[in-house]
Amino acid sequence: MHRLAVAASLIGLAVSNAAADGVSVEEGLRISIVGGCHDCHTDGYAVSGGRIDPENALRGSAIGFRGPWGTTYPSNLRLTLAKMGEDEFVGYGHTFKTRPPMPWFGVHGMTDGELRSFYRYVKSLGEPGMPAPAYVGPGVEPITPYIAFEPQMPAQSQ
Ligand code: HEC
Repeated sequence: MHRLAVAASLIGLAVSNAAADGVSVEEGLRISIVGGCHDCHTDGYAVSGGRIDPENALRGSAIGFRGPWGTTYPSNLRLTLAKMGEDEFVGYGHTFKTRPPMPWFGVHGMTDGELRSFYRYVKSLGEPGMPAPAYVGPGVEPITPYIAFEPQMPAQSQ
């Protein structure tokens, strides 16, 4: 009887822990929206006023960001995460660095649970698809459309 009670309370503990850690695909979707990841990594998201096209979600973009660092393309995150296990992604999420304008320093501030939820959300999106175009070095003309990411002087001050 005593053993049964202990077992029952342990099961109860396990269930409440599962609920309390809050890690889920839905939470990952929420984090991806609040974190602004779709703004750059999902084609068409920003101009549509925040509509996530399930086909393009976090598959990256072929429109580059060109600045003094060269031209970078928002990566296909489905592909990046397809190459990693969940624990590996938690370590990566706290330490990775990229060229601009990726706000990698913001991702470092996510909790382990938030990174796990984000990972599970990205994994739920399905077929990874094609990689984004490769990085182009400074001063080299890209062959894709790009956004010039440099301060411009207003016309009247030139
Ligand atoms: C302002 C645009 C922008 C936003 C917002 C943004 N990213 Fe990025 N991200 C990029 C670009 C551009 C790259 C490629 C950088 C490079 O080539 O060095 C990138 C690269 C990455 C990489 C590296 C992937 C790899 O395979 O090398 C990860 C991981 C990543 N982003 C995750 C995120 C997450 C998570 C969010 C939301 C919290 C986010 N990004 C928001 C533009 C953005």
